[in-house]
Amino acid sequence: MIPLSRYLGRLFHGERLSLLPEAPAVICRRQPVLAGADLFRSFGAGETRSFALKGVSVDFRPGELNLLMGPSGSGKSTLLAVLSGLLRPDTGTVGALGQDVWQMSEDAMERFRLQHCSYIFQGYNLFPALTAREQLEIVLKWGEGCSAREARSRADQVLGQLGMSGKSHLRPAELSGGEKQRVAIGRALVKNPSFVFADEPTSALDWENGQQVINLLTESARERGAMVLVVTHDPRLTPFADRVFELADGKLHAEAEVPAGTPLTLPRKCAHTPLSADAPRLRLYAP
Ligand SMILES: Nc1ncnc2c1ncn2[C@@H]1O[C@H](COP(=O)(O)OP(=O)(O)O)[C@@H](O)[C@H]1O
Ligand SMILES: [Mg+2]
Repeated sequence: MIPLSRYLGRLFHGERLSLLPEAPAVICRRQPVLAGADLFRSFGAGETRSFALKGVSVDFRPGELNLLMGPSGSGKSTLLAVLSGLLRPDTGTVGALGQDVWQMSEDAMERFRLQHCSYIFQGYNLFPALTAREQLEIVLKWGEGCSAREARSRADQVLGQLGMSGKSHLRPAELSGGEKQRVAIGRALVKNPSFVFADEPTSALDWENGQQVINLLTESARERGAMVLVVTHDPRLTPFADRVFELADGKLHAEAEVPAGTPLTLPRKCAHTPLSADAPRLRLYAP
């Protein structure tokens, strides 16, 4: 199963065109931008040492939303942290954008994370004293050295896309859970990251807000070409994903998606209407 929007994104890498030229009969898969190979990670020492990851190999492509699922304690958060440069594996490698992440110096790693990675957590991690707009501005001023004017304009643009324009002056205590998570997503997306890592981003939200959050993450993958990796235990999110990975007891057990290299027969021409948040999701099915 392959979403139409992903196919369109593949062709134009995020450009918005009103009419597609001739579509190819066979879609080529994009190259992975993030890959973990034979990852092991343990906690504790001696007799209490236990392995949270037991030889995980996995790769991810740009413009896709990936779900990492599995029971509590199966190693999901550990894998996300290892892949995202937050937790060093015992053994194994992580390659990102052609670089060996865990061979980088600490400085280089910090620069890499600042430039390319965004993180979204269940607890929002917003600064209590800052308004919604300031939460986004600070990322641009610190991370990219943006002028106050540019930071404000980009922050307002992203908050507008998230339907938060009217609340940009409010602090976290004045926002609902869903609104806080939207600000956290705005903060993650405002720097146009290559990678978005989200650990249980919907678990504190009701289903309506959870759906909004996952829609926004899906669109950030589609429209910005980001690789989005979401840890969740909510099976209702699987229809939003391009690929679903299942972890059990530190091992990757299954992946549900179109098998690599599956040729899809597509219409020769089709119009492209950019997706809005509430647009119905069209899907193409692999034969
Ligand atoms: N900081 C830690 N110290 C000790 N054990 C940990 C730590 N983090 C995770 N673990 C253990 O590693 C295993 C996997 O944890 P985790 O990756 O958080 O699972 P999940 O996110 O799937 O619930 C669990 O057995 C957990 O107890
Ligand atoms: Mg976890």
